[in-house]
Amino acid sequence: MNIKICGTGSALPEKVITNKDLEKMVDTEDSWIVDRTGISQRHVASDEENVASLGTLAAKRALEMSNMTIADIDMILVATCSDDDRLPNCACMIQKGLGGTTVPAFDINSACTGFLTALTITDAYFNSGMYKRILVVGTETLSRIVDYTDRGTCILFGDGAGAAVLEAVESDTRMVSSLFANGEKGDALTCTAAGKVLMDGQGVYKFATRCVPQVINDVLSKAALTTDDIDLFVLHQANKRIIDSIARTLKSDINKFPMNIANVGNMSSASIPVLLDEINRKKLIKKGDKIVLSGFGAGLTYGACIITWE
Ligand code: UT7
Repeated sequence: MNIKICGTGSALPEKVITNKDLEKMVDTEDSWIVDRTGISQRHVASDEENVASLGTLAAKRALEMSNMTIADIDMILVATCSDDDRLPNCACMIQKGLGGTTVPAFDINSACTGFLTALTITDAYFNSGMYKRILVVGTETLSRIVDYTDRGTCILFGDGAGAAVLEAVESDTRMVSSLFANGEKGDALTCTAAGKVLMDGQGVYKFATRCVPQVINDVLSKAALTTDDIDLFVLHQANKRIIDSIARTLKSDINKFPMNIANVGNMSSASIPVLLDEINRKKLIKKGDKIVLSGFGAGLTYGACIITWE
């Protein structure tokens, strides 16, 4: 069974914090942030918005594009690491927002690898024959856990949600994936229940530029493909320099790496589905395209997969 992405959707809060705004909050400069990260602005949730409301909106848009309703969906998977509430989980809150269904709904927390993790879970359910249609949402309000006095982290993160309606289809190809976690390095990026994000920026940077090319090469070799066979690399949007470095290491054309980080910053598990929705709506993907998706972040977790667009 292959995964068909029937529809995508996203939702970004209206409120924006620009680099100039951050200059008034911490000792930083617009030019430093742009040069070192590629980020110019990030969206920030209002008091009325949360992971569930943004996720519900993104899910509605993905269902609409799929010409489906929630009644067509067998399961709801939500990737998030910034839910305000411990209970109920965000997936059940999104289910409530969509209404009219009692299908299983649960959250996944593997930070910026969350959407990738949800895709591999979907692949396993599809190939076990258990479910045929799964709604996957990545949603974050990182602004609630970011320390706006720490210039090393507050410049990076933003809020938003992305969603995809996935369907199991008979096909000659199957998604190929690899997921890893290195808990021993977990101290590099943490956030306690009552605290804010703490990050060893250099440490995470080095981990990403080393491990992401490795895991992408791993899935390429599993699929007996080379980078030349890949049409698009949809990577977690953590830092433009990280993506540039990965493209160089893979000796691949940077034009195959779409980016939206300038406008939205790093949205953890929402980064990949929001970017996917953006390029899908711009019609930059065509049937038969081979797309690498790759996420990396707290855990430390990382992973990649190759999907063939149905
Ligand atoms: O989602 C996955 C998780 N996160 C990531 O992937 C993030 C990975 N790391 C990064 O993206 C980068 O490490 C950062 C963007 C966080 C930092 O960039 P860097 O090039 O690694 O800077 P640095 O930490 O090595 O700091 C270089 C200098 C330091 O000053 P000195 O010691 O050289 O005088 C910092 O204090 O830049 C200073 N600095 C800043 N200056 C202006 C650090 N943050 C800022 C800032 N504005 N916001």
